[in-house]
This record gives sequence, structure tokens and C-alpha cells, in this order.
Amino acid sequence: MLPLTVSLHELIDVVITTLDARDPYTLEHSFRVAEYSERISEDMGLDADMHQRVHIAAHLHDIGKIGVSDAVLNKPGKLTNAEMKEIQSHSRIGYNILSRIPMLREISEIVLHHHERFDGKGYPRGLMGDKIPLESRIIAVADAFDAMTSDRPYRKGMPSDDAVREINRHKETQFCPLIVNSFNRVAPQFFLYKSSDPSPNDAHFAFFGHEDLMLSKMVCNGKNLDLSVSVGQTNAEMNRHKRQSL
Ligand SMILES: [Fe+2]
Ligand SMILES: [Fe+2]
Repeated sequence: MLPLTVSLHELIDVVITTLDARDPYTLEHSFRVAEYSERISEDMGLDADMHQRVHIAAHLHDIGKIGVSDAVLNKPGKLTNAEMKEIQSHSRIGYNILSRIPMLREISEIVLHHHERFDGKGYPRGLMGDKIPLESRIIAVADAFDAMTSDRPYRKGMPSDDAVREINRHKETQFCPLIVNSFNRVAPQFFLYKSSDPSPNDAHFAFFGHEDLMLSKMVCNGKNLDLSVSVGQTNAEMNRHKRQSL
């Protein structure tokens, strides 16, 4: 007999596995962005619900790239206007996928807005300032840092301290100043993470505590959700474990 309920973790796992089959780079990028976003939200002292939303949304923020062609996704040179539009469609595609799942509605809104800019010149809606969900503003900074510092087939990633300078250069235009202030405080932790070249499958990643986190109450605990697959580890225990890992 088929089970009647599916847990949030199981759903997220299916979506992430789908992304891995289509585009392993984006999966690894998303794991790092989730880690960075979480550090920023910890520094900001966000409440548990917001912290949880940031984490899940960061894992799923680029899921819409499933709908973008490889030729455009991996194009080394300058993109044409049409290609740029195709790439930019990924935030709306991600929203369309995730908003079909009632328990991921809030997450889908965060994903929709992760390429908005603080000055209103982003996409898809051109939202400005605090009209952009706070979770999306956090992911935008973490996303930019990882994109700039990652090697791609067509270019080498820039050094981490140059990427920090670049993010600060765009404070108040592209990025929310509140988030950049927190980012500056936690960025040295990212340097360590980056230099270890983590990926979701290697031993370092497990050591870092991320796998625990994905199976944890932080990701799985919705009041109305089936928690049968979650690991019985408290948030405090997880945070202690992660701090020890640094
Ligand atoms: Fe994106
Ligand atoms: Fe991204």
C-alpha cells in the first residue's frame, strides 16, 4: 500500500536529486549558498522560522535552472539579450515548480525574489529595499559570493577577499546594507569553507555538519508535517556541532 503522507524532507530531497541529475554544479553551489546564508542569518539573530526558511530556500534557490538550456547555462562568452532573458527566467521557473507544493509556498516566494536588487534594478519584479523578502536579500549576498569565488569551465573564480570587496562596493545598490554588515562579520568563516573545496558528497561536507542539518529538525520540523524521517538532534546540538567543525 502506498504511504499517505510525504515529509518536507522527502520532498526537498526529490527536488534536490532532480537538480543533481540535471546540473551537478548548481547542486554544489546551492549547498554552499545554504551554508553561507545560514551563517549570515545566525549573525543577524533571526528567529527559528526565518532561519529555517532561509536554509531551505537557499538549497532550492536555483532549482529553476532545470528549465534553462545547457548551451546558455554554460556559455563562456557574453550572452545575447535573448539568452540573458532565458537565464533570468530561472527564478520564475523555480517559483512555478515550488509553489505547486503547498508546504513550500513561502519558500517559492523567496526563490522568486533572490535576484532582486536593493535599488530596485533586479528581476523579476524590480522590488526595492525592504519590499524584497529578507530571506531573499540574504540569499542574494551568499549567492553572489559563491558565484564570484567558484571556478567555472570558462573562468577561474576570484580570490575570496576580492569577492568581499566587490560585495561591499555594491552595498546599498545591489545588496541590502544590513545583510552586507552581517556578511562582513562572518565572511572569514567562508574563506575556510571555500579553501576546503566542499561538495555534498565528500567527507569534508559530512564533517562540516551539513548532512546532519539536512536531516535535522531545522529542515524537517513543520508543525503539521510528518517528521518520521527526521534525526532526533536539537538545533542547539546542531549549532554546537557546527561551531566545533569550524
Ligand atoms: Fe539564481
Ligand atoms: Fe545561485
